[in-house]
Amino acid sequence: MNKINTPCIVFDEDRVKSNLSVIENLTIRTGVKFLLALKAFALFPTFVLIRPYVVGATSGSLCETRLGKEELGGEVHSYAPAFLASEFDDIALNSTHLIFNSLSQYAAYAKRALDLKPDLSLGLRINPLVSVSTRKEYDPCESGSRFGIRFSELREILENIEGLHFHIHCENTSCAGLELLFATIEDQIGNRLNKLKWLNLGGGLVVTDKDFDFENFVALIKAFKSKYPHLVLYMEPGAAYVWQAGYLLTSVVDIIEAEGTKTAILDVSFEAHLNDTLLGWRPSIVGASEVDADIDNHNLYKLGGISCAACDVLAEYAFKKPLNIGDQIIIEDALHYTLVKMTCFCGTLPPSIAIKKSNGEIQYLKAFSYSDYKNRLG
Ligand SMILES: Cc1ncc(COP(=O)(O)O)c(C=O)c1O
Repeated sequence: MNKINTPCIVFDEDRVKSNLSVIENLTIRTGVKFLLALKAFALFPTFVLIRPYVVGATSGSLCETRLGKEELGGEVHSYAPAFLASEFDDIALNSTHLIFNSLSQYAAYAKRALDLKPDLSLGLRINPLVSVSTRKEYDPCESGSRFGIRFSELREILENIEGLHFHIHCENTSCAGLELLFATIEDQIGNRLNKLKWLNLGGGLVVTDKDFDFENFVALIKAFKSKYPHLVLYMEPGAAYVWQAGYLLTSVVDIIEAEGTKTAILDVSFEAHLNDTLLGWRPSIVGASEVDADIDNHNLYKLGGISCAACDVLAEYAFKKPLNIGDQIIIEDALHYTLVKMTCFCGTLPPSIAIKKSNGEIQYLKAFSYSDYKNRLG
């Protein structure tokens, strides 16, 4: 890794393959059809690896719908909190499944969608108010949420609706939420499920995490399917495909010591390139641990981003060794919700992107330059 110029995000082919074998196993054991949620991971040059394990993509915008169709192929399930009038026709024409977030969107667009593309499968997003997300800032089921129609609003299965979409999880490894979801669905519309063709159980379950409740998941799905064998079940995780399967290589550019605090300034920006850290994500760092109040921590450093925002910083980590200018720092698990969210804030260019192939070879995919910054703005 020392030979790679930093900053660089590395997609580790072997680690992704091992995640994909879990997805394959789940598909074989349960018959659930897996979609890739492009909002989490859209590095399309790697789709050749992922394609055999999914039936298609799930999209949240015209750009993602197009990318799914062009680069992944198969089914494209498009959903957005509201479809934009300027994008709707192109989304409908490029999708296989279209999911409305509200009854007003259904009223505005369902007929038009089928006029444009009669074989589109239409669905509704339902918010079952099953609040189980491990990340509260990403809980789609909090009271007052803008996502989904409530069961109380859905008195009947509406004309031309073939499926229902649910998304309740975020970074969950337990299946307690799924169990509650199935119970709620049966309680609320069990007697109308015969009118539907599919249910989409959403994303957010980290099925590839070492702690994932694998056997319980298999048992829950099998039990549900045995009662409703006519329903196709989809899941649309994103992060799970590349969970713990890549890293961001950075370098220490300077070390600032002020008022007793040491900050190692890195050649990336947390604000621009690891935006979730500002929402509380604490990435693991190789050779460092969280500060532990019960022990005598050594080599404490804050990690400072390269932009000028005061908040572009990670609170202290305890390093095994003192840091020096030029040291490489490896930030773990940096593939999901990073590449898709990066900006050039403050003119900071995103890290380059590389694949570590199974044979150890490093394949560079992309390096960013001034034109990437400039072309976004004019
Ligand atoms: C509707 C929907 N589906 C799928 C996902 C993917 O979730 P994850 O990447 O956590 O699996 C999200 C994430 O926000 C989502 O909002």
